[in-house]
Amino acid sequence: MVITPPQTVEYIISRLGEVKEDQKILDPCVGPGIFVKKLLESGIHSNQITAFDINSSFKTEIKQLDISFKEQDTLLALYPDSYNEFDFIVGNPPYLNKASTYVRINRSKLNKIYGKINAHETYAMFIVNSIWRLKEGGKLGFITSDSFLTLSTHKNLRRFILNNCKINEILLAPKSLFSNQNVSTSPVIIILTKCSGKKNKKARENHIMRIVPRVDSEGEYQSPSYINDLRQIKYNSLPFNIFYTDVDEKVIELFEKSPRLKEYLSGFIGMHTHNNRKYIAAIEGTELVNVFKKRNMKSKESIQKFKIIEINEFKTGEWKPYLKRGGGDQYYRPIMEALDWKEESIKNYDIPKNVPFEQEGIVISGVSSRLAARIMPRGCYWDSNKAIGFIIKNKVISIPYILGVLNSSLYNYLAKGIINNTSSIQLTGIHALPIVLPDDKTKERIEDLVKKIINNKRKDQNYNYVIEQKKIDNIIFNFYKNRFNFSFSLKDKLDESFAIY
Ligand SMILES: C[S@@+](CC[C@H](N)C(=O)[O-])C[C@H]1O[C@@H](n2cnc3c(N)ncnc32)[C@H](O)[C@@H]1O
Repeated sequence: MVITPPQTVEYIISRLGEVKEDQKILDPCVGPGIFVKKLLESGIHSNQITAFDINSSFKTEIKQLDISFKEQDTLLALYPDSYNEFDFIVGNPPYLNKASTYVRINRSKLNKIYGKINAHETYAMFIVNSIWRLKEGGKLGFITSDSFLTLSTHKNLRRFILNNCKINEILLAPKSLFSNQNVSTSPVIIILTKCSGKKNKKARENHIMRIVPRVDSEGEYQSPSYINDLRQIKYNSLPFNIFYTDVDEKVIELFEKSPRLKEYLSGFIGMHTHNNRKYIAAIEGTELVNVFKKRNMKSKESIQKFKIIEINEFKTGEWKPYLKRGGGDQYYRPIMEALDWKEESIKNYDIPKNVPFEQEGIVISGVSSRLAARIMPRGCYWDSNKAIGFIIKNKVISIPYILGVLNSSLYNYLAKGIINNTSSIQLTGIHALPIVLPDDKTKERIEDLVKKIINNKRKDQNYNYVIEQKKIDNIIFNFYKNRFNFSFSLKDKLDESFAIY
């Protein structure tokens, strides 16, 4: 079990403000009681404190502190009188995810209670549960995983917080906070005041939050080198209500003032064959053949082999070009896979209706460490996983132009640095990117560079396009900079962390 370091506990308690003698405090997952002990040390009376824990082994130790203790599952033990009960709630909720035994065993019960918000991670459910348990005006102080701030899977939790609380503070705690306990997390301290209901909407939106980007040590909590005082309404600016901590104001403005990419480009989830090994073949002469050959060597005789077909067979009409691989390749990649298109095979596929397969467009890797977009020739089908097909909706942007934009360092930052910082890229995340329509000159310059890269990559897939890419990055950055007054330090950040070179 993870124990919160004392300095962090003291800081959280210090941010709660004054605790009056008649006010009640809860630690909903008390463990050995570090929060409770610090509360007592700070002069709070033991009869003001309540603690819960699912684990009975702390019972004797906690009872000795003379506080009220209940051995119970805080997430499931919700009774009508559990709501609006406490003035303060503090703690370090457990970080169990959907693969944990606890969540798997209790899935249906948790789903009933938290399903509309998030029933996958215990810390997210503890936040919701604790907000319910707080009185109006009551305060919550937690140290927890920071992943709910940005991941799109937590958008409902963020909306729940925005609709029910004033966010007093978000402080990204040191990454090393728990490393002496061999736990690697990315922790955040969050302080909230319950302020729910429609009537308080304006008060919540106008509330000024103290936002502190990652600090390196606990010593920096009280006076960090940078504090961002943001009005809470600003958490409506980015897609999915992302709780950003250090995004440049001008970049936020780009999201606020520009149309979304989905107005110009439509992405579609692809199809299922239900048996890729049976129906998908590698095309002779492509890199994939080596992968398939290796896999076949490893697999036992009895297991169906990965198929490899000759180019001539691919061209017979019994196969369709297929896209199912992620990865960081940009602009162009030869078609490596073929989809069995015999009538008796097609019958087994789930091909979604209304998806414009076979049209020319672009394909974006759904799993990749960077945003990677490639040209998608006419005739292709794509899988429901790892590759997402997109079709241009509005001819004011062209395929080469949009490839240049999406493969630029600026867009890699918008997509991977801001919207989604995991290795997967969601269709909705791409749709939510902002786009500024280019002037003719910018469009032409980008198109020329992109066509050059594509032509060279067709001849040699390993063609090094760094020179062209630098030009593309600069043109796109300057074009956006002129409209949104981006700073040069943003360009430095892009060059350092979001460029391919
Ligand atoms: C990360 S530890 C925090 C311990 C202590 N509060 C601290 O910060 O040092 C989380 C605690 O939550 C308890 N816990 C886990 N799931 C729980 C649940 N569903 N209800 C109540 N307590 C739970 C664990 O037994 C553990 O003591």
